[in-house]
Amino acid sequence: MTDATETPVVRTTPHTRTASYLAEPGEVSRVLLLYSGGLDTSVMLKWIQDEYDAEVVALTINLGQPGEDYDVVKGKAEQLGAVAAEVVDAREEFAREYVVPAIKANAIYGLAYPLFTALGRPLIAKLAVEYARRHGCDTIAHGCTGKGNDQVRIEATIATLAPELKVIAPVRGWQMGREEEIEYARRNGIPIKGGAEQTPYSIDDNLWGRSSEGRWIEDLTHAPDDDVFQLVTRPEEAPDEPQTVEIEFERGVPVAIDGERLGIVALLERAAQLGIAHGVGIVDHIEDRIVGLKVRDIYEVPAAAILLPAHAELERLVGTIHQNQFKGELDRKWAYLVYAGLWWEPLRTDLDAYMDSVNEQVTGKIGMKLYKGMARVVTRESPNAVYDAQLATFETSGGLFSQQASPGFIELWSLQSRMAYRLRAERGG
Ligand code: ARG
Repeated sequence: MTDATETPVVRTTPHTRTASYLAEPGEVSRVLLLYSGGLDTSVMLKWIQDEYDAEVVALTINLGQPGEDYDVVKGKAEQLGAVAAEVVDAREEFAREYVVPAIKANAIYGLAYPLFTALGRPLIAKLAVEYARRHGCDTIAHGCTGKGNDQVRIEATIATLAPELKVIAPVRGWQMGREEEIEYARRNGIPIKGGAEQTPYSIDDNLWGRSSEGRWIEDLTHAPDDDVFQLVTRPEEAPDEPQTVEIEFERGVPVAIDGERLGIVALLERAAQLGIAHGVGIVDHIEDRIVGLKVRDIYEVPAAAILLPAHAELERLVGTIHQNQFKGELDRKWAYLVYAGLWWEPLRTDLDAYMDSVNEQVTGKIGMKLYKGMARVVTRESPNAVYDAQLATFETSGGLFSQQASPGFIELWSLQSRMAYRLRAERGG
């Protein structure tokens, strides 16, 4: 008999095919590689040419990763033998078609994660499909491991949008550790950014946030070392003076900051700058991955930490109690679908129709006070507010709201609960 808690070991060789969309070695002749310029995908660029005797087209996508030099990335791809190297600026599409719907859905997974990576992957994979077709590729390659969420998001997208394309995920299959990768890089003249001495954090970022994983972050008892915060100012070093900023929304979309109208990309960048300066948007949490693992993540989400609470507050102001209660449930469902790689699931589009309908009313201004790591709502105004200061005031009575009617309401409102309570008390003795 086996112990139920014992973990059975599944043995597979690198070429065991476990899904119909995975490429067999003989089927690959031209590969579209999702190329970041980092160590893994640079090793892959070379390795695919050797291992499959295939041509590689490199595709790098700009979703607003701060401080990236795309000319350098493109040059590196060409130097490593890519037959073509494309860089696509997808910031506008990302902001408009992915981040804005997330704002309308108050999208947070696991109470803390604003989904920046999860929102980026379906767009990256969609563009990979587009460019693979344009360049006559038969296969798409990506650098995800077999333990994370990104493999699910990318492969689910490819399998949905382009059933004719195959996928290879060399990092998932190859048995190279970091040392061997560095050795392989040295032998093949692949430059190693930041040197080989220190294992870097595993970083993913775009204009909606940044994540760090790996190294001491995997030790749950290890409080964050300062060097992990490459984006947000540490709250203890943030200015001693608070700053209040006014975010204006039209139909759920942020359109202006402090009275200045901005395009959506510029607005997200401006919100990020404000958060960065005031130490806003640091998250350190445990997350339930799709594949069953738990992971500790450190996020820096300065724009989301300002815009999401502002949007949620305005939405609460213009919605009824029933809308507000119901929407929270749908928001959670939306966030989970997107987290779990099901961006193309029709339910997500159905939910978006509801989000859009509710957000028709979400117009107005929210004041956010930023101070040493905190972003707090301090003012709100909307032409659509379901709020009447005359009715709500504690100072006067009468008018449309009769306080005399309240006891009658309470008696009926609590009727069933009181009956059940009494019956159970009697039965229970
Ligand atoms: N845990 C987050 C997610 O699943 C962030 C993942 C970061 N991705 C990465 N390749 N480092 O969306």
